[in-house]
Amino acid sequence: MAIITSRTNENGWINILYDRCNSCGLCVKVCKDFSLIMDDNKPVVSNFPLFGCIACGQCMAVCPTNAIEISGREMTVNDRIDLSEMKDKSSYIQLKNLMIGRRSIRDFKEVEVENALIEKIIEAAVSAPMGLPPSDVHLVVIKGRLKVREFSFDVIDYFRKISWVFSPAFIWLWRLFGKEAYQVMKSFGQPLVNFMTESKEKQENYLLYDAPLAMYFAASPYCDPADPYIPATYAMLAAESLGLGSCMIGSIHPMIQYGAKKLKQKWNLPEKSPAGIFVIFGHPKYKFKSGIRRSFAEVAFIQN
Ligand SMILES: Cc1cc2nc3c(=O)[nH]c(=O)nc-3n(C[C@H](O)[C@H](O)[C@H](O)COP(=O)(O)O)c2cc1C
Repeated sequence: MAIITSRTNENGWINILYDRCNSCGLCVKVCKDFSLIMDDNKPVVSNFPLFGCIACGQCMAVCPTNAIEISGREMTVNDRIDLSEMKDKSSYIQLKNLMIGRRSIRDFKEVEVENALIEKIIEAAVSAPMGLPPSDVHLVVIKGRLKVREFSFDVIDYFRKISWVFSPAFIWLWRLFGKEAYQVMKSFGQPLVNFMTESKEKQENYLLYDAPLAMYFAASPYCDPADPYIPATYAMLAAESLGLGSCMIGSIHPMIQYGAKKLKQKWNLPEKSPAGIFVIFGHPKYKFKSGIRRSFAEVAFIQN
């Protein structure tokens, strides 16, 4: 049975062009679904795959002679990109410097983000890995300072509407979800919503910081809850490489996850989404001179 997502309920289809195949067997090696096996020194489609082809495209991509074509599950052979045409690959140093130089940007110049840059960000973000292909991440792009502001204020109005969840009695109930959930709600959630609503009254936007561009990466109920964060991160790095600043905004999704029907209808946000993240983008107003050294809570090596 095919693995179902919101976009497909079929298996991928593997077509082997034997006149091109050199029997190297790489396609069989990379397929972890066991959809391909070697038989009589030739790759053949197995009748006993683990799940059935999920159209990850790896066999098509690894084949040195383009002898494999995948179709189905939203994929066609036209999705194969010729890497030999991409001479300009970043080195580790370039990538690391880009990462270290990145800061979360919350102050933007009053200029819009050009469409060509938005397209480039999306082009890079969509290349992110996903739990199961085809990606079940929905992307909503809110373009223009005024639209982002309108959206922010709609969200803050919704926060105010549901502010009873931050009332002392209700917050106390968060203890049922554990001491940590209670502490976070009390020390962060409650003051944050109060601050947002007070700021909005002064026409200040501390939710999406009057950015000229916002993107919402939202998971469908079928996909891995980690899925939206990965293209969101790719988008931030792409933006950085294009001279734009960006910042993830995690405070909206948990608040609108359940309910917010009218808001979701107005802004074309997916109705059901178990995980999601906003990212804002724009031309940075200030330049950061220094990077900041960071640390993990712990790095534990487990080894022989
Ligand atoms: C998952 C996630 C959610 C975040 N949510 C918010 C947010 O709601 N508002 C905000 O101003 N910054 C938000 N940030 C930005 C962080 O505060 C920022 O990454 C952190 O302070 C470190 O700063 P740096 O990105 O410049 O290194 C978020 C970052 C992440 C990764």
